[in-house]
Amino acid sequence: MSQTPDLSESTEVQVLGISGSPILDSNTDRAIKRILLHTGLRTEFIKLSDYRFSPCRACLGCVNLNECVLDDDARDLSRKFREVPAFVIGGYTPYSSLDSRTKAFMERMYCFRHISGGNAGKKGVSVITSACPPGVEGIPPAAEIAGQQVGMWMMEEGIENLGSMTLLGNVPCIRCGRGDECPFSGVKMIHGEKATVESIGVNTFEENEALTRQAKELGEKLREAVLVQ
Ligand SMILES: Cc1cc2nc3c(=O)[nH]c(=O)nc-3n(C[C@H](O)[C@H](O)[C@H](O)COP(=O)(O)O)c2cc1C
Repeated sequence: MSQTPDLSESTEVQVLGISGSPILDSNTDRAIKRILLHTGLRTEFIKLSDYRFSPCRACLGCVNLNECVLDDDARDLSRKFREVPAFVIGGYTPYSSLDSRTKAFMERMYCFRHISGGNAGKKGVSVITSACPPGVEGIPPAAEIAGQQVGMWMMEEGIENLGSMTLLGNVPCIRCGRGDECPFSGVKMIHGEKATVESIGVNTFEENEALTRQAKELGEKLREAVLVQ
């Protein structure tokens, strides 16, 4: 008789979706949810902005326990993360690097690493949303930088990186109401002096067929990786 549990029948969450985007129903959220949907597995989606937690304090209080000693909502997050074999993590790129919630989440999962390598063997997929397309003169390649940060975390933790997708999101200045007149507007900073809120339009993940296809492929990849474990 096979000893392999049939995870497709499991009642436990098999894939956790973690969004660092605080924006309601953001592109990041929807892309993560689409990937989760395509896993066909039991999933849970969480938004880090619903939790209050600090970055790692490097106190090393977790060394002997494999548990973080800080008393905040990352306790709930780490309980969820510890249990799942796979996850999708998504962040966005304020000031051309990974957002602070996603970064703090990654840091706090460090507690599982000592001796036991508690994060090793998990399967991960990442989503990065940036408002600035690559190649704009004078602006760092935000998505590439953030993607490297998440990729490096996975590598250091022994997480199997199954792939990543990059979305073009929206600079907040397109919805603040002053995007065309503000001298500090990201609309002009990214798209040039002549750009307006109307001329650059709103980027919507679902309207990009290549991205929705990629989300499907990543979901299916996660499914396969979880079921063969
Ligand atoms: C304070 C702030 C600073 C930002 N700075 C950058 C930036 O430097 N580069 C960039 O590509 N996007 C920047 N963004 C835009 C975010 O990347 C954008 O909100 C994201 O693409 C939207 O993703 P979402 O639709 O998933 O929320 C910034 C956003 C905020 C709120």
